[in-house]
Formats: sequence, structure tokens, C-alpha cells
Amino acid sequence: MNKIEFTLNGKKVATEVEGRVLLVDLIREELRLTGTHVGCDTSQCGCCTIQFNGSAVKSCAMLAAQADGADIVTIEGMATGTGSDMKLHPVQQAFTECHGLQCGFCTPGMIMTAVGILKDNPNPTEADIVKGLEGNLCRCTGYVNIVKSVHRAAELMRA
Ligand code: FES
Ligand code: FES
Repeated sequence: MNKIEFTLNGKKVATEVEGRVLLVDLIREELRLTGTHVGCDTSQCGCCTIQFNGSAVKSCAMLAAQADGADIVTIEGMATGTGSDMKLHPVQQAFTECHGLQCGFCTPGMIMTAVGILKDNPNPTEADIVKGLEGNLCRCTGYVNIVKSVHRAAELMRA
């Protein structure tokens, strides 16, 4: 077993993991943050994307032991406040405004990837957005409204 400590959505977590456990399984199964989804077993769908030390990464492609010392944000850590005071992150707000989802299964991963795109490039072109999202698959939307959502998020974050 490996002892690990890391920050998850602003809170310190200390636990022990077997060397073979994937980060996504630690997040979902042990820590019960099930907003991070699993849509494949080939590291292709992007549904499991999280922010890891400020970068968007596929949490099914990392071992949980690699989280030691890391700063991790999942979809549950994006909004601020609670109840009637809850404020969506601008990327969440943009997906809501632009109908950037249908079934929603891919949405947490899309949002976490979009955060990474906008961190690197606050004013992306459509081509930049399409390229940035190429590691995330959506079975429902045809991507048009997802791309619009990332454009809108960029506007909201620049405002
Ligand atoms: Fe991680 Fe599909 S579950 S890429
Ligand atoms: Fe259904 Fe993307 S909204 S998979």
C-alpha cells in the first residue's frame, strides 16, 4: 500500500492505495465523487478529465499513487458557494446558456478540458477549441453547442 496526501477541491485528503489503483477509481469509488465519469477503457473518451496541478488530465490514465502531493480539482469543485448562494463556474454557466449538453455523460470531462483550453488561451478560435477538445468524445450533441459553450465561457471569463 502507498500512503498518499493531496488536495482535492480545496480539502486535504490522506489515504492509502494499492499500486495498481487508477486515480479515477480512487476519486469515484473511495472518495465517492462520481461526477468524474468513466466512458471507456482505452483512454480515449475524456469523460474522466480532471484538473491535476492546473492541467487537464485523463484520470483513468494515471495511478492513484501519482496523486501524492498534487492539487486536484474535479467537477464537484468548480462551483462556489452552496444552496441559493451557489455560483456556477463560468464554463459551467456557458454550457448551461448554450445547451452544450444532452445526456450530460461527457459534460464533466468536457468542462474540465475547456478549463484547460481557456487557461492556455483565453481567446481561442473555433479551430483552437476543436483541437483542444479532440481528446473528448460526445455521443449526443454533434459538438456544435459544445464549441459555442467554450466560446461563451471565454467571453464570460474575459468580462
Ligand atoms: Fe478516461 Fe475514457 S474513461 S478516457
Ligand atoms: Fe451525451 Fe455528450 S451529451 S455524451
